Amino acid sequence: MGALESLFRKLLSVMPYQARERLELGLEDALATGDPAMVYHRLSELDTNYYGGDLRPPDVEEYYKSYPGKPRIPLPPPVKASGVDALEAITRRRSRRSYVSPIGLRELGSILYYAVGVTGRAWWGGPKRTYPSAGALQPVEAYVSASHVEGLGPGLYHYHPPTHSLETLKKGNYSRTLERIALDQEHVGEAPAVVILTAVYARTASKYGYRSYRYIHWDTGFAGENIYLAAEALGLATVAVGAFYDRQLCRLLDIDCTWEIPMLLFPIGRRP
Ligand SMILES: Cc1cc2nc3c(=O)[nH]c(=O)nc-3n(C[C@H](O)[C@H](O)[C@H](O)COP(=O)(O)O)c2cc1C
Repeated sequence: MGALESLFRKLLSVMPYQARERLELGLEDALATGDPAMVYHRLSELDTNYYGGDLRPPDVEEYYKSYPGKPRIPLPPPVKASGVDALEAITRRRSRRSYVSPIGLRELGSILYYAVGVTGRAWWGGPKRTYPSAGALQPVEAYVSASHVEGLGPGLYHYHPPTHSLETLKKGNYSRTLERIALDQEHVGEAPAVVILTAVYARTASKYGYRSYRYIHWDTGFAGENIYLAAEALGLATVAVGAFYDRQLCRLLDIDCTWEIPMLLFPIGRRP
């Protein structure tokens, strides 16, 4: 038996019976369409007889990642009103790929806060955030690569929502590294800051089994639209960037690309 067949048999042995039926259906559809993504698509559909398979992710008890050993930089309070109302921001929103440096720390902090910030408490004590989230599990994490931000040294940071602060992961200017990771998209390298959204898949997978991989994309989409709309309201420029070399980005962020997955980059700058 070849290595692939052996792996496949092992996979079957850890899948619940009904999920094996779904796998068969998915493989048939993958063959019919030529698209292997159909396998996952069928495995993660729900119907009255099928509630998805089980996953055994590592325990993730917290709603946010934190880096206790890393120096924390408090962010200024977010801008509370900009004069652009929500409906206007929605209709004016555009992907903007030219950036003027620098941006202010308050502008950057406002983008992070409106993207994934804590805005309240749920009845069970967990946080509520600016973005809706399947099961309120809130998998989205935000990192920042800063190169020209007033009052912030060049470096790679993690946003810590409960304290509205940045945790310093690495010092140095990573703009050109990110540009290369984003398939040489120049606008990524030229931005004074790039917000990187990841999803802690393990958080969502602790509840939703095979469907979780869908949910983390929906959750991140909402947080990403928050970035677009906050940038619009603040007169800043941004674009969602989904083309990047996953493994290289994971190495830069020091994440595993399995239980935490990179989702989108958002270069941020002032408008020309
Ligand atoms: C999931 C996703 C991935 C995207 N990836 C890129 C990208 O890698 N580079 C880029 O310049 N724009 C990217 N975009 C932006 C789209 O090109 C843009 O939204 C589209 O052209 C429509 O323009 P609008 O946003 O101004 O309405 C992406 C958008 C989405 C939603």
